[in-house]
Amino acid sequence: MSLVVYIITTLIILVLIVGLYQKSTNAICTSRKRLDGKTVIVTGGTTGIGLETAMDFAERGARVIIACPFQSEGDNALKLITEKTENKHVVFKLLDLSSLASIRKFTADIIDTEKRLDVLINNAGIGFANKPVTEDGMGFMMQVNYFGPFLLTLLLLPLLNKTGTISEPARIVNVSSVLHNFGFINLDKINVTKYWLPMFGFWYQVQIYSNSKLCSMLFAHKLSKKLRGNIVVNCVDPGYVGTRIFGDWGRILGPVMIALALLFFKTPWYGAQTTIYATLDREAGKVSGQMFKNCQLSRAKRSAYDDETAQKLWNKSISLVGLSSEELEQCFQ
Ligand SMILES: NC(=O)c1ccc[n+]([C@@H]2O[C@H](COP(=O)([O-])OP(=O)(O)OC[C@H]3O[C@@H](n4cnc5c(N)ncnc54)[C@H](OP(=O)(O)O)[C@@H]3O)[C@@H](O)[C@H]2O)c1
Ligand SMILES: *[C@@H]1O[C@H](CO)[C@@H](O)[C@H](O)[C@H]1NC(C)=O
Ligand SMILES: *[C@@H]1O[C@H](CO)[C@@H](O)[C@H](O)[C@H]1NC(C)=O
Ligand SMILES: *[C@@H]1O[C@H](CO)[C@@H](O)[C@H](O)[C@H]1NC(C)=O
Ligand SMILES: *[C@@H]1O[C@H](CO)[C@@H](O)[C@H](O)[C@H]1NC(C)=O
Repeated sequence: MSLVVYIITTLIILVLIVGLYQKSTNAICTSRKRLDGKTVIVTGGTTGIGLETAMDFAERGARVIIACPFQSEGDNALKLITEKTENKHVVFKLLDLSSLASIRKFTADIIDTEKRLDVLINNAGIGFANKPVTEDGMGFMMQVNYFGPFLLTLLLLPLLNKTGTISEPARIVNVSSVLHNFGFINLDKINVTKYWLPMFGFWYQVQIYSNSKLCSMLFAHKLSKKLRGNIVVNCVDPGYVGTRIFGDWGRILGPVMIALALLFFKTPWYGAQTTIYATLDREAGKVSGQMFKNCQLSRAKRSAYDDETAQKLWNKSISLVGLSSEELEQCFQ
């Protein structure tokens, strides 16, 4: 019991410090750009940061596609966005990033039915996995946060490529995290699924979360070199944001963290600002493979720009998500 009190006290102090820091980093995106006639996908645009991001794009007139694994969540979010923005072009589609089959179904549907795709926001992510392994045999959190979006992005490249021009590039924006700073890449262990140690499980998951966010940045770096200027790909660090992402931290820590996060962290609206900035700002459209933070160009950890690691991770990711070389070629045509 005293251990729990100790942990909670430590958390409160940490959260207070972080919260105070947040007050000085609440930059907002001031762009007035409209998005009429443009199509945007926000993965996980149903709650938290993603919902605020989708809401903003809908207000600007975009056709917004939100996607998550639960129909009811999607229906609720759709209703919320449509009522608030009166935008009739918002749709919800099922997408479960923990299933490669679901990702393929989703992207095939998009490629078949959408004429254009201007923006892809890889926002969906989890901070804690309740299951160790996905149906595809990969570590659950790694697949939802990294391998899934990896496949999704590659399969959508042809449509993004068709839509983007040099003067107005299509944009891919990934929601990364400060925690990428704690990430490290060990390719032999990138697919480990045995982290079900009860005592250390929690910290292990925080580590995997950090690793997954570092992978996103390495991917952006690598992908940016393969693209030509009509598609830019960048990451954003939203800061610390009060959302449900902290809710899965267990029966005691979960509610405590949610309460603290809601009290002291950024609101999801503020949390969405840097994503919106990276999507709309003219200058932000001129850089690729970079990290934005607090509505400004920032820098990820040094190892996030390591070409060799990026190449190895790329190869490993291709084989884990099961992309054949013909398919890969098609992604880049
Ligand atoms: N909150 C922070 O402090 C913070 C800090 C840095 C980075 N981030 C990142 O910001 C992003 C959004 O997080 P948030 O804080 O807004 O969390 P959130 O409120 O928990 O939202 C996460 C979203 O991802 C969706 N999602 C979860 N599992 C999915 C799956 N298997 N397939 C497809 N979609 C799935 C969720 O859909 P359902 O609602 O249907 O589950 C939800 O819409 C994440 O990538 C997170 O890592 C957050
Ligand atoms: C984000 O990461 C996913 C893989 O995690 C990748 O598919 C996507 O292109 C990345 N985008 C950026 C901007 O890093
Ligand atoms: C990655 O894969 C490509 C093509 O399959 C191969 O030519 C290259 O040597 C591989 N690189 C690494 C670092 O494994
Ligand atoms: C790694 O992922 C593949 C799926 O591509 C799976 O078949 C394999 O069992 C996984 N390996 C481990 C050690 O979990
Ligand atoms: C984009 O399309 C052009 C022209 O069709 C093609 O040459 C190029 O390889 C494509 N790039 C990507 C990243 O798909």
